[in-house]
Amino acid sequence: MGEESSGFSNTVEVCFSPALFPVYFQDKNCVVVVIDVFRATTAICAAIDSGVEAVIPVATIEEAIDYKQKGFIVGAERSAEVVEGFDFGNSPLFFKDGKHAGKTIVLTTTNGTKAIDMAKDAYKVVIGSFSNLDVVSEYIEREDKNVILLCAGWKDRFNLEDTLFAGALAEKLAQNLRFTDLADSTQAAIKLYNAAKDDMYGFLGESSHRKRLSRLNLEEDIIYCLKLNKSTSVPVLSNGKIVKG
Ligand code: MLT
Repeated sequence: MGEESSGFSNTVEVCFSPALFPVYFQDKNCVVVVIDVFRATTAICAAIDSGVEAVIPVATIEEAIDYKQKGFIVGAERSAEVVEGFDFGNSPLFFKDGKHAGKTIVLTTTNGTKAIDMAKDAYKVVIGSFSNLDVVSEYIEREDKNVILLCAGWKDRFNLEDTLFAGALAEKLAQNLRFTDLADSTQAAIKLYNAAKDDMYGFLGESSHRKRLSRLNLEEDIIYCLKLNKSTSVPVLSNGKIVKG
């Protein structure tokens, strides 16, 4: 429950950093939406959309190596770069030709998969990105529970792009009377999203991870990650695997 729930509405709380998650995650009977716009949660949505059967998120490179040795296709990213020896990093564009449809793949990333791991004991863990904004909102409305929007951030620091998505989702949810109990962090995220929504690419021009991705010539990924509602999938965590919900 949120700090001062009205009792009539579910709470919607934005958690700006995984380091703050224990503060928000007092009651496991809630839905946690994990958000890593650049790029983990967008890549997971793209994978599920392309027909990938399941994505196994792992927190460490060591676990990823174990899966690689067992013959899985494994993505591993650290500091936005592909870790040597793995099949891919964290680009949603990796899935565009659908060649891994039907397979179970493995993914470890700097912040996104760590955030998924932290949330795993929640009633439901949902993967959110701009690409599935509308369907995630509808899914949460059907669940009708308190919601934590967990921004993966960058190494426990606040980041803008995850906050913008949290604001977009919270604003949609708040149109439903069952989701009007908005924490201060949620109100702040909504205000930021409204300031940014007409030109998110420009708004994020000086943001740290957008600049990091640009330096690595990943401009196409940035553009992809900011497109709204390309996807109809709601990936959810089920028994350690992310599958279509
Ligand atoms: C992460 O998990 O930190 C990321 O998604 C970073 C990236 O690959 O851009």
